[in-house]
Amino acid sequence: MPTSTARLRALADLVLPDRPMADIGTDHGRLPAGLVAQGRVPFAVGVDLREAPLVAARATARALGLQDDPRLSLRIGDGLSPLLPGEVATVVIAGMGGLRILDLLAAAPAVVARLERLVLQPNTDLPAVRAGLGPLGLGLVDEGLLIERGQAFTFLVAAPGPALAMDEAQLLLGPFLQARREAPFLDWLHAEELRLTRAIEAAGEAPRARLLARERDLVRRALHGLA
Ligand SMILES: C[S@@+](CC[C@H](N)C(=O)[O-])C[C@H]1O[C@@H](n2cnc3c(N)ncnc32)[C@H](O)[C@@H]1O
Repeated sequence: MPTSTARLRALADLVLPDRPMADIGTDHGRLPAGLVAQGRVPFAVGVDLREAPLVAARATARALGLQDDPRLSLRIGDGLSPLLPGEVATVVIAGMGGLRILDLLAAAPAVVARLERLVLQPNTDLPAVRAGLGPLGLGLVDEGLLIERGQAFTFLVAAPGPALAMDEAQLLLGPFLQARREAPFLDWLHAEELRLTRAIEAAGEAPRARLLARERDLVRRALHGLA
């Protein structure tokens, strides 16, 4: 199975079916190659900044018999710069820091404006990414959360359009996740409460203890359905 981990499967499920897509920072190339191999998209681009990941992506393509297939294009380049405006409907950027993801989007306004969907899976800085979508002309339209081998992955789905207004708790926890209150989200809230309690203890009298306590308060309110 080319997209065999649950995280990659979740990403694949969020890609618009039957529409061209691009995976920025594709690394092993399993997402675009898997989507083409399964016939779920008519065309996929895998982009990576460095040659070594593209070597791995070409090996993935070869293993799936896609090495000379015009439906799969593997490109070296920075962020969305190897894409033409309107070339793809969905862009996926997964497994990178949130601030880097925002920088990549900000650097390619003409490409971003012509997308139909963005699927983002930042490893860090989720609140900053949620807050940063509006200024880029994007609205948050959906979210997902998956816990795989004890690690939580959050998926943000965005589209060109009006910004979604979010309060402090929604920026921190996710407006869609918070509204749905599904089991993985509640598990994640419990883990966050524990993590923040330990961090508050470790911070002692340091100023950041107050910020951490505020975060824990928002987490606890959400856990009790109050936020
Ligand atoms: C941790 S891997 C994530 C791979 C894959 N997206 C996933 O989620 O499994 C990050 C990849 O992004 C690539 N990358 C980092 N900065 C990039 C940029 N500015 N443009 C394109 N690719 C980049 C790295 O070379 C690396 O292969």
